[in-house]
Amino acid sequence: MKKLIIKGSKELSGEIHIGGAKNSVVALIPASCLTKGKCVIHNVPDISDVAMLIQMMEYLGSKITYENEVLTIDNQNLKEKPIPTEFSSCLRASYYFMGSLGGHFKHAEISYPGGCTIGARPIDIHLDSFKKLGFKVVEKDGTYTMNAMKLKGRDIFFDFPSVGATINVMIAAVLAEGTTKIINAAREPEIQNVADFLINMGAKIEGAGTAEIVITGVKELHGAEVDVIPDRIEAGTYIIIGSLLGKNLKISGINKDNLISLTSKLEDAGVKLKYNKDSILVSKARNLKAVNVKTTFYPGFPTDLGQPMSTFLTQCKGESLFEETIYENRLRHIPYLNTMGARIQSWEKKAVIIGSTPLRGRKVKATDLRASASLLVAGMIATGTTEVDNVEHILRGYENLVDKLNNVGADIKLIDD
Ligand code: EPU
Repeated sequence: MKKLIIKGSKELSGEIHIGGAKNSVVALIPASCLTKGKCVIHNVPDISDVAMLIQMMEYLGSKITYENEVLTIDNQNLKEKPIPTEFSSCLRASYYFMGSLGGHFKHAEISYPGGCTIGARPIDIHLDSFKKLGFKVVEKDGTYTMNAMKLKGRDIFFDFPSVGATINVMIAAVLAEGTTKIINAAREPEIQNVADFLINMGAKIEGAGTAEIVITGVKELHGAEVDVIPDRIEAGTYIIIGSLLGKNLKISGINKDNLISLTSKLEDAGVKLKYNKDSILVSKARNLKAVNVKTTFYPGFPTDLGQPMSTFLTQCKGESLFEETIYENRLRHIPYLNTMGARIQSWEKKAVIIGSTPLRGRKVKATDLRASASLLVAGMIATGTTEVDNVEHILRGYENLVDKLNNVGADIKLIDD
């Protein structure tokens, strides 16, 4: 078990450079399995989810090198092999091997994907869509086996704009015969990033980033290169931290257009942000006022920033209504914020946050990746020392977190417990 020890209330100045997006790269790596050609992925973040995917790719026969944020994938000897629970349970994104191995070999076998326990997280939209494309999907003891003689494109309507299902269907459909149209597709920027990679590989995709994506099948794909887009959740977390502790803290390497749902809320609360081409300058704001925040799909406020944002709201004067609409269990950090001095009443997926309240260092426990980020922010603004237990989750999504924060003035240690 890993633990963060945070000495709080340190002023932060200097620059934090943002890495590549976790939720893009975890799809780009499996997507490379659509070709035996050489793929090169740039701006790959050094996070534990990437390390796990490298192991999975090597298990499938790929040769991988990973240096200076460049991941080179040689799939000459790629084989379709069952992906056992030891791998699939480690991360949610293992479900992208269903689309990529299924698309390439017309056969895939994979155990149920893991990931943060933030809700039921069914994969019914993925499975229904795979069936519509022509797969026979059989589930036995938590393992899915997918088989098809051939795949045939068609119109697929999603009841909900699922990020994972949108990417998975794009991946599976690029080698199908004919045209697939995804209606009510998710519009997150990571989807566009994956589509760009597939297009670079020779796929024909139009409309990625909109609610209707049209994929015209091609016979085969070739090797290609792609840059991972900046991680808007990592950037958002550091912008939140800067608005509580920064003194001209520069958050660089970002795409500010992807952060508007956050930056406009922070500005409504009283934070002053200075925008440059690919960076934002943020300083500690005084007299913050309450704002209501409701998470939803893109371009709405991202669920992945909801938990760190809830910590920010404890520092705003008045009553903020916070509502999570995507997952059932994304408020499990709230009792810990309350032990640190916050005044939050929560029920179901809503919380009323009454501020502003000073926070005091305490021993707390992280239940998932973004809960870890929320408690990190809390520990950084608290007086005294905060210990966050069970924090290995945070390594899944924030590269080099301790160095990035200590380099701008924080006092944080990551220790093995
Ligand atoms: N859903 C279904 N059926 C499905 C798929 C989704 O009911 O077949 C429901 C889920 O239960 C959930 C909602 O739809 O309530 C959203 O799921 P979605 O498929 O959009 O999310 P995901 O693909 O499982 C990705 C990210 C999440 C991020 C969400 C939403 C990856 C690996 N994960 O998950 O990232 O919260 O999109 O933006 O890309 C995180 O980084 O902390 C994280 C959880």
